[in-house]
Amino acid sequence: MSKPLRIGMLGCGFMGRAHSNAWSQVNHFFPREHKPVLKAAYAREEDREKLKKFADSWGYESIETDWRKVVERDDIDLVDVCVPNIMHRDCVFAAAKAGKMIVCEKPLAMNVQEAEEMVAAVEKAGVANMVSFNYRRVPAIALFKQIIDEGRVGRPFHYRATYNQDYTIGADVPQGGMALWRLDSRVAGSGVTGDLLAHSIDSAEWLNGPIKRVVAHAETFIKERKHADSGKVEKVTIDDACMFLAVFENGSMGTFESTRYARGRKNYSTMEINGDRGAIFFDLEDPHILEFFRYADPETGKKIEDHLTGWQRIHVTNFEHPYMKNWWVPGTTIGYEHTFINSFADFLAGLEGGPKFQPDVRCALRTQRVCDAVLQSAREEKWVDIPA
Ligand SMILES: NC(=O)c1ccc[n+]([C@@H]2O[C@H](COP(=O)([O-])OP(=O)(O)OC[C@H]3O[C@@H](n4cnc5c(N)ncnc54)[C@H](O)[C@@H]3O)[C@@H](O)[C@H]2O)c1
Repeated sequence: MSKPLRIGMLGCGFMGRAHSNAWSQVNHFFPREHKPVLKAAYAREEDREKLKKFADSWGYESIETDWRKVVERDDIDLVDVCVPNIMHRDCVFAAAKAGKMIVCEKPLAMNVQEAEEMVAAVEKAGVANMVSFNYRRVPAIALFKQIIDEGRVGRPFHYRATYNQDYTIGADVPQGGMALWRLDSRVAGSGVTGDLLAHSIDSAEWLNGPIKRVVAHAETFIKERKHADSGKVEKVTIDDACMFLAVFENGSMGTFESTRYARGRKNYSTMEINGDRGAIFFDLEDPHILEFFRYADPETGKKIEDHLTGWQRIHVTNFEHPYMKNWWVPGTTIGYEHTFINSFADFLAGLEGGPKFQPDVRCALRTQRVCDAVLQSAREEKWVDIPA
């Protein structure tokens, strides 16, 4: 039986588009009882013209420039929070209070204190919720997880992650305003730590278990930038680059690097694990490839034949690979937007008796704890333990 799921979209920018596309496509590829209906879209008054075009192109039935109106409307079942980080707390609070299902973009909050309050409010309301760490739904990253769970990596020694971009190198890039709110810590909470490392941390803890302690160094290369809202040159207070060392509870060591100053890198998110039985490497700029080094048999632990050891390049497009039986024929690839469609397919399955969706707000609180510990460590120049 088909059930309408009436969506109230907060935000008409990058994620507003990615989520609208995913809600529109999910039923075409995944059989689900819930049928998303694009009911209302919000953006700021100053973005009204953009909002109108957005609503028109995705087929939203109405627009609002006051987000509270979307949340409070009786004809909305799910609030999708795709606005800057400073708004996440209030939007999630109001949605929970109104008894609406919640999808919230990452990072969950500006800091741990906000995130704890949000988890309490959402759990009290008992509403279905998800936080959009969509990279878990890249088929190759889901296969990364499957290979670890099958025991093919064995005892892990090293975990290595990078998330590098280059779009803020120019001193003339302003802070504030559409998209560049990421350079204003009052709106973003932090720089690369909350924006990029949050993804790397969510993936790392999903793949390799909890991080126990961290030590970090962060840098702000360009100290002052013109603010798009005030027109004045103001101090930059975000972390432009951040690197940290981590110790995982399983005893392995981690290195994490993130910057928006890596000339040539656009969305270079990589992850690698090295264990006694094997190793795995993934690069988001080559998303359908997973590299696997098989050293020992997962059952016996016996080393495989010498002449067969070596890195194997798996083209993650077979029907047997995660999510791929719902897409095209083997050998044909899917891309970035499909990670959101795969996420919503799993979220809807959770509403329909399938496994409860992860990551939810409680899981995202954990990522927030690691982000806050990284920033604290960089500020205080010391190791910081992460509470379990
Ligand atoms: N999961 C991912 O991979 C991913 C990727 C990009 C962004 N995000 C997250 O999604 C959220 C939205 O990011 P985005 O890239 O879509 O942003 P964006 O700048 O493209 O769009 C922001 C939207 O919020 C509205 N808005 C309200 N108050 C604003 C303010 N003070 N400044 C700027 N815009 C304001 C704008 O009208 C616009 O519709 C953020 O939390 C971000 O961290 C997640």
